[in-house]
Amino acid sequence: MPDGLDFADPDVHQRDDIRAIWREMREHGEIAWQEPCGERSGFWVIARYAQAIEVLRDSEGFASSGGNVLDTAARQGDSAAGYMAPVTDGTGHRALRRVLARLLSPSMLGHARLSVESTARDLIDDGVDTAVVDLGATAAVLPVAAICGLLGVPVSDRARVLGLARSVLAVPQEQTFPADPRIARAELIQYLAALVSRRKHDRGDDGISILLDSSIQGRPMTDHQIVMNCYSLIFGGIETTRLTITTGLHAMIERPDVWQRVMSGDADLDLAVEEMLRWGSAAMHLARTATAERQIGGQTIFPGEIVSVWNVSANFDEREIAHPERFDIDRTPNRHIAFGNGAHFCPGAAFARMEIATFLRQVRHSIAGIELAGAPRVIRSTFLGGVDALPVRFTRKGAHE
Ligand code: HEM
Repeated sequence: MPDGLDFADPDVHQRDDIRAIWREMREHGEIAWQEPCGERSGFWVIARYAQAIEVLRDSEGFASSGGNVLDTAARQGDSAAGYMAPVTDGTGHRALRRVLARLLSPSMLGHARLSVESTARDLIDDGVDTAVVDLGATAAVLPVAAICGLLGVPVSDRARVLGLARSVLAVPQEQTFPADPRIARAELIQYLAALVSRRKHDRGDDGISILLDSSIQGRPMTDHQIVMNCYSLIFGGIETTRLTITTGLHAMIERPDVWQRVMSGDADLDLAVEEMLRWGSAAMHLARTATAERQIGGQTIFPGEIVSVWNVSANFDEREIAHPERFDIDRTPNRHIAFGNGAHFCPGAAFARMEIATFLRQVRHSIAGIELAGAPRVIRSTFLGGVDALPVRFTRKGAHE
């Protein structure tokens, strides 16, 4: 690992040479130890695909309950451990997964598809009338509407939910949401708690009603469990989907031949979506805490040590992915780990794929051309990666089909 580099510093992930740094670390093959810094403990850094899979599939040896991102795992831990799926292990986690599977079932997905389609239609058709559009802001509305629709969050509250979620993720924004992620998190949790309380007396066909009627290991879900898992859906599903759309579209704009193939209907949209997921690797890393001694990449990892797995590097590992630096919308197979791997594999994967494909289909339907209207801005975060702001100018198709 290059001297003086701190992978827990968001600025490191904005460096122009970050891809070269990852390539060198993969080449080297040994996992690297990041020294402690202030209140942040030290942690292992994993860059290779095979080693990433080894950790993610070994939930006996690598626990999530200490926090599944560095911000929590290497600092104070996660207060939602044992309640919220991403930071729960073992039988409790398996029970939560069964509930999440009901919430994100094919029938709920089918239901959501209709509202995602109409949101995408409104977004693109409204956006194309404006001279310059920030695609990052446009794409943000889709996943918020989708998840809020799934959970039954009223339309009038959705901008607030998005603002709070972005504050939790430390995404800079102009609006008046608390800048401190801890305050924003508390506010979002409070909002969800009030919504759950209201829904108790007013059940519907929404996700919160499903959770209210669900049990974990024979006991009805508690309010706290419901609130924390709604929070996890919002946290897990909004920014990741938006960044995948924005980063993928940016890659296409930079490659007019690719853009042309996608827009003409010549390309397989499902394969294009997979490549957007790999290319964007929106969840840049995942964290685990070792619970047993393990040997990985020539190093011994001891119980209690924190391990960070970098999807953003693993998805570009030339040992697994042919010509990884090529944005190849025909790539098959495409075994990226943008959705993770093992017990915590993203349960919203089908939902996210549907949203991204719907957005692309709507762009194809309404837009004749697109060009950059300013410099794209990369998100400043250690967890989230990709293009945050993407100013573009659209040319609308002459007439709607
Ligand atoms: C492109 C969009 C998305 C990406 C890149 C993404 C990525 C991920 C990754 C990498 C994990 C694994 C976390 C870990 O192993 O610690 C995960 C878990 C999770 N995701 Fe997603 N996700 C996306 C969209 C969604 C959506 C749309 C939803 C909800 C509808 C969602 C809900 C969740 C939940 C609840 C978990 C925790 C699962 C568990 O711990 O068992 N995600 N996601």
